[in-house]
Amino acid sequence: MVGMTVIEHLLIKQKESPEATGAFTRLLTELIVAAKVISREVNRAGLVDILGYTGRINIQEERVRKLDDFANHTIMERMEKSGQLCAMASEEDPDLIEISKEYPKGNYILIFDPLDGSSNIDVNASIGTIFSIHRKVTPGEEATLADALQKGSKQVAAGYFIYGSSTMMVYTTGSGVYGFTLFPGLGEFLLSHEDIKIPERGKIYSVNEGNYNYWDENVRRFVDYLKESDKATKRPYTSRYIGALVADFHRNLLKGGIFMYPADTKDPKKPHGKLRLLCEAAPLAFIVEQAGGYASTGYERILDVEPQELHQRVPLFIGSREDVLLAEEFIQGKR
Ligand code: AHG
Ligand code: MN
Ligand code: MN
Repeated sequence: MVGMTVIEHLLIKQKESPEATGAFTRLLTELIVAAKVISREVNRAGLVDILGYTGRINIQEERVRKLDDFANHTIMERMEKSGQLCAMASEEDPDLIEISKEYPKGNYILIFDPLDGSSNIDVNASIGTIFSIHRKVTPGEEATLADALQKGSKQVAAGYFIYGSSTMMVYTTGSGVYGFTLFPGLGEFLLSHEDIKIPERGKIYSVNEGNYNYWDENVRRFVDYLKESDKATKRPYTSRYIGALVADFHRNLLKGGIFMYPADTKDPKKPHGKLRLLCEAAPLAFIVEQAGGYASTGYERILDVEPQELHQRVPLFIGSREDVLLAEEFIQGKR
């Protein structure tokens, strides 16, 4: 018997919210098609000329890989036609992306990281797509930046696709976190993880230790603490780092633990670290809190951060609640 498809799941959730018009279900259905197209290309990468660089530099001042571009255009072109969006924002594009006049507009904003973990593309390690959905808050049909610069706590939905040993979709609309696995033979995402809950405390820490000398002293103290041996507090923790946020986060979501990308002083242009608030930290923070975890900048709950600009970066400590709260204590000098 084939399990529940993600569309069935979306329709059940839609029925649970009386005011639902089906617009959101339509939006997510289109996004799922885009993810299947990207997943197929990711699985072919290496066989066709989709690896390597485009020669362009993006807003993040990073060289753009062909698969980044492919994923970005696949989502933009498909979602623009969905009729459910008034604007989009992509990690790969400097400004808000308007919906062209020829397509009907809707009341949602889609913010996304089309391909997360780009440095893993050529080495066949897991990569993913992250998305965040807000409702339009400004009057009139045209979207403005204010519609995108909303706090994470205002998200209508958030999720990610992970193109790994299998392709998975994990999402929340605010009533729990659900995971679906793509069955290649069927081309359907089937429910595989019902109501995911992250362990209160983990045994895994994920951080790029190569940046150790560029962290704040209190962050160094916290990571050193995790590595000390102490049976009573079940230390040392195990270190796991894949280098793709989605994959590191997904492992910690299922097994427990903390992922960190602290502010590092190596690059003065990025005093708040590398990860983006709107298309990486906020969507994953929504998911982790729905699963019983927590996400912080070290000083502030990620979902409470008031965005000031589209590509704003934040330090990120995310995962098991107890581990992230402990990180905050160290970072704030309370420990
Ligand atoms: P993206 O590929 O979307 O730019 O994201 C890469 C991010 C994130 O996926 C990962 O956690 C982090 O970069 C890894 O950075 P380092 O290589 O500096 O550890
Ligand atoms: Mn990313
Ligand atoms: Mn990316």
